[in-house]
Amino acid sequence: MPPLHRAPRGTRDLLPADRPSWDFVERAAHTLARTYGFEKIDTPTFEDTGLFVRGVGEGTDIVDKEMYTFEDKGKNSLTLRSEGTAPVMRAYIENGMHVLPQPVKLYYMTSIFRYDRPQAGRYREHKQFGVEAIGETDPALDADIIALAWDFYSAIGLSGISLQLNSIGCPACRPTFLEKLVTYYRSHRDALCGDCRRRLEVNPLRLFDCKIESCRKWIADAPKMADGLCQDCQTHFDSLQNYLAIYGIPYTRNPILVRGLDYYTKTVFEFWAEGIGAQNAVGGGGRYDGLAELLGGPKAPGIGFGIGLDRAVLTLQEQQIQIPSAERPQVFLVHLGDEVRHQVSLLIRSLRTSGIRVAFTYGSRSMRAQMRQANASGAAHTLILGQSELEKGVVACRGMATSQQEDIPLNDILNYLKTN
Ligand code: HAM
Repeated sequence: MPPLHRAPRGTRDLLPADRPSWDFVERAAHTLARTYGFEKIDTPTFEDTGLFVRGVGEGTDIVDKEMYTFEDKGKNSLTLRSEGTAPVMRAYIENGMHVLPQPVKLYYMTSIFRYDRPQAGRYREHKQFGVEAIGETDPALDADIIALAWDFYSAIGLSGISLQLNSIGCPACRPTFLEKLVTYYRSHRDALCGDCRRRLEVNPLRLFDCKIESCRKWIADAPKMADGLCQDCQTHFDSLQNYLAIYGIPYTRNPILVRGLDYYTKTVFEFWAEGIGAQNAVGGGGRYDGLAELLGGPKAPGIGFGIGLDRAVLTLQEQQIQIPSAERPQVFLVHLGDEVRHQVSLLIRSLRTSGIRVAFTYGSRSMRAQMRQANASGAAHTLILGQSELEKGVVACRGMATSQQEDIPLNDILNYLKTN
């Protein structure tokens, strides 16, 4: 016996039973993105590895540990999409979008691949709804991006979502802050965990992400970026908070929120959900004013977010939110005898080309077996066509909710179904 294949670790099948939840969140995402003036973009599933290395940054978990990188037959190093922002920025630059009216507002709904440690809410292939608005520095845009994510969670009915907000400064003020941070941590080096000692050398901002209890107290007393912002960053941050207040969007200022990607400047934010366990970040994003130039493009400041749709669906289930059920067939056609087969095919064809969802059974089955399937299908009407109906030029139509049955002339059935 050949070995049974399973979906690779950290991946899963989304089955028809999962579809209603996914359709529900995807529909909300498309609708809101368009309401806010975003247009859809699809970038390739894989990119040059260098795009992620430069864009996301060496020393980040994504680049150091999580990329699916391979060499193709032409000896090019390629990487499966490990996040959505760098590819969209690459597309913006490559397609000369800086000549369009700014900001260019793009959204995507796509798979992201990360060699993460799988657990509930954490997969090696997950789906993100992301938006990127490129070419504008106005903090009003930051507020709109945050409002869009906020509206998404409320459109799908999630409660207990908290917005965590911080500013991590810019190239003008961050180096001075990092110096202070490093000096502070060096004086406690011996007491730090191994990871933190590494972060201290490679990526000091990530010191704030340590979950180890003995390191928490160093975080509490460490200098915070929010206290060392330059005038420009401070004004931007104040103005953003002002807009959020006008929009009525509550937030928590979180001075140790730093995010896991290196391209961020100024605004960073995350959305946390209650009750879904450790993987509670249902979305996150921020400003990336230097990314375009880092990738060799023109000056093009931007801001965006990525919402983890798997986690959004998980939270829907956790919070037992009612979602619209799957579309059922409108009509189930029961057919009896070979003599009617020709007429059955004509009828099915005419109903389907008129947009009516028809189900029926193939082969020949008993009336009882077909009626059982009609009941299970959830169709509103069952049509019954046998020899006697054919001779009268009618089809028997039974309303499944009322169990009322009446004969309808075959050439009237389409009208009947459209009006009943
Ligand atoms: P990120 O925080 O790495 O940001 O991912 C965004 C969201 O994707 C997370 O908040 C989470 O909901 C979901 N997510 C991340 N990893 C996994 C996983 N392994 N399994 C399931 N869900 C996951 C970014 O990727 C940035 N590109 C977001 C952004 C866009 N920033 C600016 N524009």
